[in-house]
Amino acid sequence: IMPIITFRSTTTKDKRAYATAGDTGTILAVARANDVKIPFECQEGECGSCLIRVEYVEGKPRMAIALTEREKTKLKELGKITEEQIADAEVNDIAPPYRLACQFIAREEEVIIHYEHCPAEA
Ligand code: FES
Repeated sequence: IMPIITFRSTTTKDKRAYATAGDTGTILAVARANDVKIPFECQEGECGSCLIRVEYVEGKPRMAIALTEREKTKLKELGKITEEQIADAEVNDIAPPYRLACQFIAREEEVIIHYEHCPAEA
């Protein structure tokens, strides 16, 4: 079974779905390979420009919940994750709603990625 990653722009309503073979790299890499215009700058989890909201498809397994220290720090700075959500992710495998596309590695889960289209491309 191939997991499906769906990209949905919150600004242009553009919607595209891609089946991935599992070992896909980051969500940002998948987006770039398919010309999906998620904004990015540093690609290191430091600038926060690649912020996405991740919606998990009901009834499918959830993975890729682990956050790197960098991602946690940046999401906290952006006000997009609480200490409680971090604890939930680490202890209870409950996925937080916001992620950084350059840090989130998609594996076998099926997700809908909500992103804000690059302003220059909208
Ligand atoms: Fe900078 Fe992802 S591109 S945090």
